[in-house]
Amino acid sequence: MIVLGIETSCDETAAAVVADGRTVLSSIIFSQVALHRPYGGVVPEIASRSHVENLPGIIQEAMDKAGLKWPQLDAIAVTYGPGLATSLLVGISAAKALSISLGKPLIGVNHLEGHIYSAFLTEGAPDFDASVPFLTLVVSGGHTLLVRVDGLGKYTVLGQTIDDAAGEAFDKGANLLGLGYPGGPVIDKVAKTGKINYFRFPRGKQRKVIGRLSEYDPDLCFSYSGLKTSLMYYLKSNPLMPDQLSDVAASYQEAIVDPLVDRADKALGSMKKLSAVGGVSLNSRLRARLIELGAKRGVEVLLAKPGYCMDNAAMIAAVASAGSGLKCGPDMEIDAEPNLEL
Ligand code: KG4
Ligand code: ZN
Repeated sequence: MIVLGIETSCDETAAAVVADGRTVLSSIIFSQVALHRPYGGVVPEIASRSHVENLPGIIQEAMDKAGLKWPQLDAIAVTYGPGLATSLLVGISAAKALSISLGKPLIGVNHLEGHIYSAFLTEGAPDFDASVPFLTLVVSGGHTLLVRVDGLGKYTVLGQTIDDAAGEAFDKGANLLGLGYPGGPVIDKVAKTGKINYFRFPRGKQRKVIGRLSEYDPDLCFSYSGLKTSLMYYLKSNPLMPDQLSDVAASYQEAIVDPLVDRADKALGSMKKLSAVGGVSLNSRLRARLIELGAKRGVEVLLAKPGYCMDNAAMIAAVASAGSGLKCGPDMEIDAEPNLEL
C-alpha cells in the first residue's frame, strides 16, 4: 500500500510517501524554527500561515522525489491531532482536497502513534509486529509519556508528565541561560564539555498524581515545571560567568534526563525492547544513558534516526500504510482534534 502522508501539527510542514509500512520513498520536512526564533517559542498564527504557504510545494516535492504519479497512490494520510488546531486544519484541508480529487481513501493518524512508529523506519530496525511488547518513551516539545505497545493500535499509557514536557524544560531552560530557541540542541551541545554534578537541580517530586492523571502510578510520571523555576532562582543568586555555562547546562540537562531514564527503567518490567522517539530523543546524553540502561537490563534499545525523531510525515504515512489510523468514509467526517490522546 503506497501512502502520501501529511504532517502540519506544529511547526514543521512535512509530506512523505511510504510503501508497505516501512519503505520511505520520500520524506520532505520544512522546519519553521527560524520564523519562531525571535519570539522564543511557536506562535500559532505564524505556524498556520507558513503551513498554508509551503504545504503545496512540499507535497509536490515528496511526490517528485518518490518518482510517482498521483494515480499510483493508494491513500492519503494526515495528522488530525494532537497539535495546534489552526495548523492541523491546514493539513486536513489539503488531505481532504487530494482525497476527493484523486478518489483515494483518507486516513487520519494520531501524531503520537506516528512518533511511536518512527523507531521502525530506520534501515536495519526490527519488524514492528515482531518487537511487541515493547516500551516507548515519547519525548518531544509537547509530550512526555511512557507507553506499553502490544501491537499496532494497542497502546497503554503507563505514565506521563503532570505539567511541562521534557522539550519545554529544555526550551525554557535555554531561554533563561540566554542560549536561544529551540533549547534542546543548544543545551545538548554546550553541556558536552560540562560537569553533570556541578549543581544538583531538582528531579521532580514523586508526589501523588491527582485529577485526570490519577490512574497512573506516580513513580512512572514526570514533573518538570519546578525545574525551570529552580534554574531561575539559581541564576538570580549565582550570576553566570561564561566559564560556568557548560557546567550549569550539563547539570540542568542531567535533571531532565535522569527522571526519563529512571521511570523507563521502572516501567520496563519484563519487556525486552525499549524505544525512545520525538525531538528530545535526539539528545546525546539521553541516548547514551538509555543505551547504558539497555546494557544493564539486557534490553534492546531502538533509537530512530535523526530525520524521524523530529516531527515528520514519513511516520504518519507509515502508520496508515501499515494498516492503522482512522479511515474516513465519503463524507470526510475527520476533523482536527487538538487534545487527541493515544
Ligand atoms: O518532536 P518535536 O519536533 O516536536 C513536538 O512534537 O513537540 O520536538 C521538538 C523538541 C523541542 O523542544 C526541542 O528543543 C527538542 O525537541 N530537541 C532536543 C534536541 N533536539 C531537539 N532536546 C534535547 N536535545 C536535543 N538534541
Ligand atoms: Zn511531535
